[in-house]
This record gives sequence, C-alpha cells and structure tokens, in this order.
Amino acid sequence: MPSLIRDLASEVGDEHVLTEPDMLVGYTTDWTRRYHGDALCAVRPGSVQEVTAVLRACAAHGATVIPQGGNTGLVGGSVPAKARAPAPVPANGRAPASVPAAAPGPRPAPARSLGAVVLSTRRLRELGPVDTLGAQVTAGAGVTIAELRAHATAAGLEYGVNLASRDSATVGGTIATNAGGIVAIRYGATRSQLLGVEAVLADGSVISRLSGLAADNAGYDLAQLLVGSEGTLAVITAARLRLWPAESAAVTLLAGVDGIAAAAALYAQIRSLAPGLRAAEYFEAAGVELVREITGLPAPLSRPAPAYLLAEISGSTDDAERLAAIPSLEQAAVAVDAPGRAALWAYRERHTEAISTAGIPHKMDVAIPLTRIAAFRAELDEAVRDAADGAAGTGPSGPRVFVFGHIGAGNLHVNVLGPDPADSAVDETVMRLAAAHGGTISAEHGIGRAKAALLHLSRSQPEIAAMRAVKTALDPGGLLNPGVLLR
Ligand code: FAD
Ligand code: MLT
Ligand code: ZN
Repeated sequence: MPSLIRDLASEVGDEHVLTEPDMLVGYTTDWTRRYHGDALCAVRPGSVQEVTAVLRACAAHGATVIPQGGNTGLVGGSVPAKARAPAPVPANGRAPASVPAAAPGPRPAPARSLGAVVLSTRRLRELGPVDTLGAQVTAGAGVTIAELRAHATAAGLEYGVNLASRDSATVGGTIATNAGGIVAIRYGATRSQLLGVEAVLADGSVISRLSGLAADNAGYDLAQLLVGSEGTLAVITAARLRLWPAESAAVTLLAGVDGIAAAAALYAQIRSLAPGLRAAEYFEAAGVELVREITGLPAPLSRPAPAYLLAEISGSTDDAERLAAIPSLEQAAVAVDAPGRAALWAYRERHTEAISTAGIPHKMDVAIPLTRIAAFRAELDEAVRDAADGAAGTGPSGPRVFVFGHIGAGNLHVNVLGPDPADSAVDETVMRLAAAHGGTISAEHGIGRAKAALLHLSRSQPEIAAMRAVKTALDPGGLLNPGVLLR
C-alpha cells in the first residue's frame, strides 16, 4: 500500500493524496451519513493527464477507484463500501465444494483486494468562455452547478439544471447521476443538457468530444452512455453543455391543497394556462412542520393545509394573471420579487436539510405515473408502518414519513425517519410499492449502493445483462466503483 501512495503522490503531488483518517472521513461518509466505508486514501488529480495516471497506478496496484464530485449523492454511490476481511484460505487449499457454477454471460471482474481509492474531481475546475452564438460552454467536472449557473447568467443565458445542492454538486456528479432537480419539467434532466464529454476510461485512455456540434450522428453516443453511469464506466473530466435563453421568473406561488390528487390536478391546470411554467413542486404538512421547527420560518400561509403545491412561472405576467381565475389559488401566497420567491422556495428546498437534522433518513426517490400517484400515496403510510413494525430504532409512535418532490415529473421523495439506518425493509417496501404502481425505483438520484439489489424492479433481466456487458467491455478489471449500480 505505501508504494501505491508513493506512486499517486509522485503523479499529483503529496498535498493531493490524503491518508489521515480525520482528512479522509469527509470523503468516505456520504451526505446522509447512512453510507460510510473505508479508503486507502483520497486523491485529487488536477488535470485529465493526472486522472489517467491515477487510474493506471490504481489498476497496477490492484486498488479500486471511487469517483467523487461534491459528495452530495443520496444513494451511497460516491463513497467506498466497508472493507471486508480477506476470505480465509481453506486449510486444504481447495475451493469449497459449494462454489456455484459460473453464470452465463460476461465473466465477472477479478476481485481487487488492496482496497479503495476515492478520486475527487474537485480540482478539475476549468470553466471556459460562454459561446453565446452556439449557447454552449465547456466546464470541468469539478465545477459546481452554482458556479456554472452564475457563469451562464453573466452571459445572459441559463444552465438548465438547478437543485438545492447547487453549491456543492458538480458537473461530473450531475452527469454521472443524470440529476433532475427543480427545472427539469422545463429543460429536461442533465441528459438533455449534454453535448459531449471528456472522460478517462478504466484503461487510462481518454475519450474527448467537446466540439459542441449540435448535429453529430457518427456512431454510438458515448457521452450519453456515461449519463447515469454513476462512476462505473469512466471518470468524467469535462463536459460541453447546452445553455438556454435566460428567463426571468415572473411569479412564484405557493398554494395549500387537500392532498396529492389535488396537487396533481392543480399542476395540470396551471400547465394548461401558463406556458411559462418552470417548476411544480409538492410537499406536505409534516414536512413544513419539520422545516419550521428546524429553521424557525413562519407559517407559509394564513391557514395550514394538508399539502402544498409550489409553482414557478416565467416570462410574461399575462400567464400569472390567467392563473388568478383558478379558484383554489385564491388562498395562495404569491411572490414576484427575488427575496419573496426565495422565501417561498425555502419551505420546499429546506426539506432535505431539516430531515437530516432530525435523524438519518431512509431516502427513496421514486417516480409514479401522475395517473397513479394518488393511489400510491394512499397506500404508502400503512405499507411503511408495517415494514417498520418491530424494526430497531422505530419508537412506539411509529416511523415518520415525509413526502415531497418534483410533482411535475411524477417524481416523489419518500423519506422515513425511525427505523435503524442499517435496516432496509422500509426502503424495499416503498420501492416495491412504486413498482407495483407502474413507477421506477429511481427518478433522479440513481441506484448507487442503496438500490443495486433491487434494480430488477425497474429493469428487465435482458436490460441488466446488456448493462453488465457494457460494464465488462469498458471496465473488464472491475476498477471503477464496484458494487454501485450493478451488484
Ligand atoms: P457525488 O455525490 O460526488 O457522486 C454521485 C455519483 O456520481 C457517484 O456514483 C460518483 O461515483 C459519480 N461521480 C461523481 N463525479 C463523477 C465523475 N466526474 N465521473 C464519473 N462519475 C462521477 N439530485 C437531483 O437529481 N435532484 C435534486 O433536486 C437534488 N437535490 C438535492 C438537494 C440536496 C440538499 C442534496 C444533499 C442532494 C440533492 N440531490 C438532488 C442529489 C445530488 O445532489 C445529485 O445526485 C448530484 O448529481 C450529485 O452530484 P455530486 O457532484 O455531489 O456527485
Ligand atoms: C430534493 O428534491 O430536494 C432532492 O432530490 C433531495 C432529497 O431528496 O432530499
Ligand atoms: Zn429531488
């Protein structure tokens, strides 16, 4: 191991190889604190050449590599697993009789035994000039979404992804997870913003397509293949990204509703009246109470409601005026200036922080067809209660369930506090319920380590076999993020 550290240090500099436990902990524990593992070191390359050198050194020494951006991922994909003690060699030196026959299909990667290296991309921070004619920009993988958005705004354009983790989440991480966020109903998820990438493959070779050609049909789209690959196929070092004409948000409104069915119906009504609808977010009374408890914010509306729809409409105020005709918006809070809008957004955006302050949550991010979303919600609480019944950590008052999310995309975050973080019964129950309602187990956060065992709920066996074949072709040695996405 010291020789790996020596080799890495000679490639990136001593100060960029971190081995001290107190320095490493921020790289080996995820944002939720639910996932934490062991790493030999964290290494911070500063260029694509250094990323290549790091991958080659780790491959040569038999270490695995965990790519990491802002470490805001919520599915345990950005941190290593716990190191396992090496399997004891049987006294007779022979394999145990119970070894199962090899499964058909690509051969599994050989086990790497040395341990894991976290490869942080945070030093890949180059941000190119905005091409205002083509409405594009090239950004290093370690640039944060807030920096990218500010850069685009300064040029009179907008980057089409926005999320509450914007100050830490990176370009590389959002591509690797295909992050959605609050304006995905307007611009699509990260996939829709991507024109090309530069990335280092497991063998150290570099693929680069940063020309930004909007029309280019020459073969497989490798950039799109890396979207949602969660660090298992390559290390993304830079990306060419599409930008959009800047829109001024004309109005943000927060309406109290009776529940999720009413929220979905109100969303559809606003969508038909306001072509400039940018965001449609959902949350419930339990979440508002917790946010207020943690932040001290005042009540959002003069009368409390069981649930809330927050909508943001851009462009002309005509759209907003047409909405005044909707009776259920009579009680809504409306903001037209930036501070007022931010005050309304806080009730939605501070859910994540408030829930994590109250405990270590079970975080599920499912998507359900809007036609089934009310039926899913109606069955959810009882299903969670049953799954949590008797689980360590669940107190006599039962689990606390928080439901919020990007309702315009049918994208719901189900967060549960109570059951021990190591117990995954609640997680599995929620994901199975989503699948039973025609939904997916991941709307935007990805699969990570958290859901790898349940991928079959959203992807067929032939699809999983094809994914494995791609993984084996690009990373035959199992160097990159083992155990994430594919078990
Ligand atoms: P990390 O957490 O560091 O990594 C995530 C995954 O990407 C890991 O599998 C990692 O191995 C891989 N990866 C990272 N960088 C690279 C790279 N350069 N090359 C290859 N693989 C890489 N997500 C949403 O989709 N929508 C939201 O609205 C949203 N809101 C959030 C709000 C809060 C407060 C928080 C804490 C999280 C939120 N997230 C949201 C989740 C998270 O921010 C996103 O998943 C984000 O895309 C992760 O980016 P990151 O740079 O932090 O990646
Ligand atoms: C959000 O929409 O707030 C996020 O995806 C984060 C979360 O699920 O907590
Ligand atoms: Zn979200």
